[in-house]
Amino acid sequence: MLTDKRILLIIGGGIAAYKSLDLIRRLRERGAAVRVIMTAGAQEFITPLAAGALSADRVYTDLFDREAEQDVGHIRLAREADLVLVAPATADLMAKMAAGLAGDLATAVLLATRLPVLLAPAMNPAMWSHPATQRNVARLAADGIAFVGPERGEMAESGEAGVGRMSEPLAIAERVAAMLVPAPGPLAGRHVVITSGPTHEPIDPVRYIANRSSGKQGHAIAAALAALGARVTLVSGPVTVPDPKGVTTVHVETARQMLAAVEAALPADAAVMAAAVADWRVAAEGAEKIKKDGSGRPPALALTENPDILATVGHLGDRRPRLVVGFAAETENLIANAQAKLARKGADWIVANDVSPETGVMGGDANTVRIVSAAGVEDWPTLDKGEVARRLAARIAAALA
Ligand code: C5P
Repeated sequence: MLTDKRILLIIGGGIAAYKSLDLIRRLRERGAAVRVIMTAGAQEFITPLAAGALSADRVYTDLFDREAEQDVGHIRLAREADLVLVAPATADLMAKMAAGLAGDLATAVLLATRLPVLLAPAMNPAMWSHPATQRNVARLAADGIAFVGPERGEMAESGEAGVGRMSEPLAIAERVAAMLVPAPGPLAGRHVVITSGPTHEPIDPVRYIANRSSGKQGHAIAAALAALGARVTLVSGPVTVPDPKGVTTVHVETARQMLAAVEAALPADAAVMAAAVADWRVAAEGAEKIKKDGSGRPPALALTENPDILATVGHLGDRRPRLVVGFAAETENLIANAQAKLARKGADWIVANDVSPETGVMGGDANTVRIVSAAGVEDWPTLDKGEVARRLAARIAAALA
């Protein structure tokens, strides 16, 4: 299905243009919105009126169209879609694209676009097999342009057989769908709960205890798992990084709220506890702002231990996720501490990282981690937090497979 997808269809000047009218219908019946650009050549074969009636939108034909340049100019046409489809893509249009020419609306849009581009070539077999065309096809493919067809068959005008026939509208629509709707990822159907960020533990209504966690690593893991198709519940402490796309984010402040949100999100296939949860909170949170009493003696803050979310989840019995991953931010004895944590917290893996101030991990973009499990210790090189997240997500997918 192509629901909510926007296709910019460029119709080139060839007899196969008549099939493009059917193509518009095929795309729209799959839920896509279709906006049409026609070259001057295309208008020799079909009319903008016919294309406009089928697309239910105005058809764009001119680079210097005062009205269009004021509302949707060629740069906006080049951006406001999900994919640019050229059908039929003529030898002339492909030669211009390969050379970077931009003399009319179609070629200007093709040069200006950053969207994925799919070409459905159609031409006489002699033109298709000509070295010049094959050179252009190779160059366009190297530029990242995708192709569907041409097919072997009889030519509409000459009855000549050979390769050059435009693919059928159904086949083109299917290729468009394959390009825009990703195949289900390896974590499709799986639910993963992640904690991320610091917690804030109130001292009184205006003050709190916190730490320097940015949430960058945990949020990146949530995004990477979602990209592999998992349904992700992210329980986030107070952070400034944005909610990852395609992830259900639950915002909390304190460790106790975080635990409640994690328990509410279960059952899950995996849990990744990446939050830097405050170990302690103030035992008796002041209902009013604590004031200096004039004695010169600071107030004593009695602390009490917070619940350990990872250890709770790791020891849940039959509600325990199949894979439980913890983090160990340490400034010394990294491996020994991580190994002790595995058992104590009931985790399958501990992602251990050195957060000594000189590493810049806290709040930074790079991370050097080791994966500690019953199987041993795996050293990873220093990587961008996004790459750490992708590798960890792939490892989780493999473990749940
Ligand atoms: O014991 P430590 O805080 O070093 O353990 C770190 C791991 O335990 C992390 O995965 C962290 O998210 C988790 N943790 C937790 N709840 C706490 C303390 C730590 O989930 N109260």
